[in-house]
Amino acid sequence: MLSDDQIGFFKTQGYLIIQGAMDPTRCARVRDLMWQALPPTADLRREDAATHIGPFTEADESTDSRHVRQGQRWLNRFLGVNPEVIDLIYSESICAMAQQLLGGTLRQAVSDGMPMGSYGPAWPGGPVDPALGNQGARGVYCTLPYGNVPRTPDQCHTDGHPFQLGVVGLIDDCPSEGGAFKVWPGSHRLLYPTFRLRYDQPRIPVYPHLPKLTGIVHSPAYLEALAQLDQESVPVECWGSAGDIVFWHHRLAHMAGHNYSADIRQAVLADFWTDALDELRARPVDVDMWQDWSPAVQRSDGSYPDALARHQRLP
Ligand SMILES: [Fe+2]
Repeated sequence: MLSDDQIGFFKTQGYLIIQGAMDPTRCARVRDLMWQALPPTADLRREDAATHIGPFTEADESTDSRHVRQGQRWLNRFLGVNPEVIDLIYSESICAMAQQLLGGTLRQAVSDGMPMGSYGPAWPGGPVDPALGNQGARGVYCTLPYGNVPRTPDQCHTDGHPFQLGVVGLIDDCPSEGGAFKVWPGSHRLLYPTFRLRYDQPRIPVYPHLPKLTGIVHSPAYLEALAQLDQESVPVECWGSAGDIVFWHHRLAHMAGHNYSADIRQAVLADFWTDALDELRARPVDVDMWQDWSPAVQRSDGSYPDALARHQRLP
């Protein structure tokens, strides 16, 4: 269970790394499932590390939004409803910690239910909506090593779909600069008031002959704040060992890290929300941003000891 210090850290910084939250044997089993899902004739071969360097070969590419293999990204969303993956990321202990943060009644994932991506992208050429027709986790998301390429700057974003608490769990060891999830500490407090809606955002139709607006409208304040984070703030990289997880607040700026290592970054991504989300998502933001969270989070003064900040790699 989470300590008061950990709850305070999450409230102030918007993320919380928990080492060893998932069983390593079960993580290994999910890695097996990932490899087993590749076509038997794939150029990408588990036993040959030289083939792990991205991008995917043309023969290995897949645009099926339930099992994407494109560029450096390998996203198996079918596995998001696999019972073993659900037992791993929605385990009793992880759900208990999420419950400590969110309070209320957590939405329950459905084993063998409908995976994310079943309806394709949210709009033509757009991203897949993690909240649409998804009865489980988002899935197992891998990033192939980039190989010998010039480095590019970090660029953060927030997720547009309604949920309240995200989790990323490493199912394999991931070194620094190895594609781990990156978070911008404290950015949830900066960004929250720049939205119109508490846990959602307005969308607009996409018209092929009017291509400038693509689905989501952001406020100028949001865009300014995001640019400021990119220019002035140092993200925390959630590298670690198989079994480590990071919880992150819905409005926290984040990105999938660039993978400059020789190993494939393998993680399971999932969302949490309570049965009040439908009631809460369109409410305004001019309130205490924690009023929908657990009494423990509301009571917390957001303080934590220096040792915890160092443990959480706070710059
Ligand atoms: Fe994201």
